[in-house]
Amino acid sequence: MKTIMQSGYGDPEHVLVEGEAEVPTPGDDEVLVRVHATSVNTPDCIATRGIPYALRLEVGLRAPVSPVRGSDVAGVVVAVGSRVTDFAPGDAVFGSVWTGRFERDAYGTFCEYTVVPAAQLAHKPAGISFDESAGAVMSGVTALLAMRDVAGVRAGQKVLINGASGGLGTFAVQIARALGAEVTGVCSTRNVELVRSLGAQHVIDYTQASYPEMDARYDVVMDNVMNHPASVSAGVLADAGVLLLNSIGAHEWLGTLPSMAFAALFKSRRWRTIRFVPSRKNLEDIGALLQSGAVRVVIDRTYPLADAGKAVAHMLSRRARGQIAIHAA
Ligand SMILES: NC(=O)c1ccc[n+]([C@@H]2O[C@H](COP(=O)([O-])OP(=O)(O)OC[C@H]3O[C@@H](n4cnc5c(N)ncnc54)[C@H](OP(=O)(O)O)[C@@H]3O)[C@@H](O)[C@H]2O)c1
Repeated sequence: MKTIMQSGYGDPEHVLVEGEAEVPTPGDDEVLVRVHATSVNTPDCIATRGIPYALRLEVGLRAPVSPVRGSDVAGVVVAVGSRVTDFAPGDAVFGSVWTGRFERDAYGTFCEYTVVPAAQLAHKPAGISFDESAGAVMSGVTALLAMRDVAGVRAGQKVLINGASGGLGTFAVQIARALGAEVTGVCSTRNVELVRSLGAQHVIDYTQASYPEMDARYDVVMDNVMNHPASVSAGVLADAGVLLLNSIGAHEWLGTLPSMAFAALFKSRRWRTIRFVPSRKNLEDIGALLQSGAVRVVIDRTYPLADAGKAVAHMLSRRARGQIAIHAA
């Protein structure tokens, strides 16, 4: 099969190159999927450049421990392991190969076939394309868990999303609205109309105004950019408000790891982090929101598999509007 292999760390268009590999064999609880679409997420950017450098301790010192990037997948089942009863060859599915960390010999999805744990796979929502389904996996599920479970957004609450036009933000705006919140999105001028079209009642153009300097107070702030210190963003919280810290940041050595570690270590009730959990239940929940029309997947651009390096470079520009999709079939 065709697969995009990574040789070392660096510029995505140089280190992500097309090669050939054996089609993998699924284990007892796994499913072999013909990849129709995948999409680009932050872990792919981190592993391609090896930045923040501190994460090389996990990703690999000189090159990533696993050579194939990508974790979101939408495609068609080719074969199932001996203990898999919920899927059969020919089923259209979506899910994730992400195990929660960068692991040696982990499967990727920038390739034509991949192996997915059956527990991290669900049937693709009817009427939703492969590109959209793949694009809803990491970003859609993480935004859903952030709004519904971690922040517990309730009808009538005021929610601010910083980075409202990105992969996470476009989902978070729509999900907060679906939960009945009054939503404020923060983005640049060119994305104001997009964020409004997703349902945000208020949009702050960060080229014109800075939300920490404004008077409004919010029950939930989701910070997907972390361009302000967490203590500054927390300044716009209402009493008992919750700040969701959700960015790897721009610092080349440490990223936002110190703030994230602080929030995780002290289990601050006001500063919270979010963890992507690609369970079947979570996939079905985001699938139901897509199928009901409450949430749509914003795709900035779709690249062919051979141009996976260009797709990662696009996301690294930090200007992506919604998801970057990769079409593999
Ligand atoms: N917890 C988890 O499991 C998990 C999972 C996935 C991702 N994440 C985290 O979520 C973060 C966001 O991911 P993403 O996929 O949404 O990123 P993304 O798609 O690359 O974000 C790009 C967007 O950020 C906006 N942006 C850039 N600078 C901004 C600023 N100063 N203020 C407001 N918006 C700004 C851009 O809009 P403009 O062009 O308008 O500036 C663009 O639309 C990542 O850092 C990642 O670490 C966490």
